[in-house]
Amino acid sequence: MELIESPAFSYKNNHLCCGNIPLRDIVKLTDTPVYIYNKQFFLDRYNEFKNAFKDLDNSIFFSIKSNFNISVIKTFLDLGCGADVNSQGEMYRALKAGANPDKLILSGVGKTKDEIKYGLEHDILMLKAESEEEILLINDIAGNMNKTARVGIRVNPNVDAQTHPYISTGLMENKFGLNTNEAIDLFRMGGRLKNIEFTAIDMHIGSQIISIEPFAEAIDRLSEVYFNLQKNGITLKHFDIGGGIGVSYKGEKIFSINEFASALIPKLKKLNCKILFEPGRFLTANGGILVSKVLFTKMNYDKNFIITDAAMNDLLRPSMYNAYHHIQPVDLSPEREDINADVVGPVCESGDFFAKDRIIPKMKREEYLAILSCGSYGMVMSSNYNGRRRPPEVLVDNNSFRTIRSRETYEHLIWDEK
Ligand code: LLP
Repeated sequence: MELIESPAFSYKNNHLCCGNIPLRDIVKLTDTPVYIYNKQFFLDRYNEFKNAFKDLDNSIFFSIKSNFNISVIKTFLDLGCGADVNSQGEMYRALKAGANPDKLILSGVGKTKDEIKYGLEHDILMLKAESEEEILLINDIAGNMNKTARVGIRVNPNVDAQTHPYISTGLMENKFGLNTNEAIDLFRMGGRLKNIEFTAIDMHIGSQIISIEPFAEAIDRLSEVYFNLQKNGITLKHFDIGGGIGVSYKGEKIFSINEFASALIPKLKKLNCKILFEPGRFLTANGGILVSKVLFTKMNYDKNFIITDAAMNDLLRPSMYNAYHHIQPVDLSPEREDINADVVGPVCESGDFFAKDRIIPKMKREEYLAILSCGSYGMVMSSNYNGRRRPPEVLVDNNSFRTIRSRETYEHLIWDEK
């Protein structure tokens, strides 16, 4: 089988390491399953992004839904990054991590009154609105609080992002955003809403997008709206292109951030306003892995199964999107032959798998496997299904590492139940 290595995770003496730290040192302390992140990867990715757009007036908002551990958020905040949050809970996390409210964007197609109030109380940079009813509600709440809300309107450009249907968001049939005509009408209504200042036009067309064209097409559609408004005397401060940049899960080549920037900068510069980015996966996905122990192996009829101590409750992506995550042994041994196997967890669902019909080295009980590309949408989507405790998270920083969230206890599982 093919091994995937990177500066973040590579083999030294046939043993997988996170940076300089052998994984055995970590699992000795935390046991498995455990999420392990490489801080240097996060720093490098952020700097790559920043450099690619250095000639453009822009700000980056880490989309914390991809990885909302406070220490991970803080890693990006310390670099001057803002945060894109999708709920009061995420805003609470970002604030706890030390986010400056004027670097916070509140997204979300369905915000509650409390969430809107919470955003306004903290004077965040912008609330992103996705319907007329929401705009009117924000205006009312801001009025009661004697405030002016800074609001962006999310436009649905009806562009096919060519990604998994569950993570495609910019098509007519999706619940997100407003069509261009309605958005224009609402921006124009702005003058009559005393407690709203429209500051931005926003888009986010999907996630894990592996070609630049859908971004270019969507930016063109939104630019038309932007210029139409400008002609009518409405000048916006911000043009927010969301997140969605795809990453490599199989070692395949995806467009580089420099290619992305060179293709889009000419379009974005014409707008003469500040461009906002909300990357999530690009910054975190390949900076994390999930390490799991093999509990048992077996052959059922003519099929091999490798049963791990991690399950769909720890990492949902394969079950939910049939997503590919590369899986490789933590310890390499030349004698190991390759087999065709399903890698599955202990949850009582046939959908509880990490790989199906995968060519993978034969594993034995108690050996460790690394599931790659788990820095995004891994821990954040975990649950307690089947009475399982959420796994711990570890952050490796150069020559040291620390647990940034402990494994849940059984008391956590029944917290506040009566
Ligand atoms: N901004 C908005 C408004 C979003 O809804 C999202 C992601 C992002 C930014 C960040 O997108 P990214 O750069 O990470 O693609 N659970 C799915 C992904 C859902 C993405 C939802 N929105 C998965 O595991 O693939």
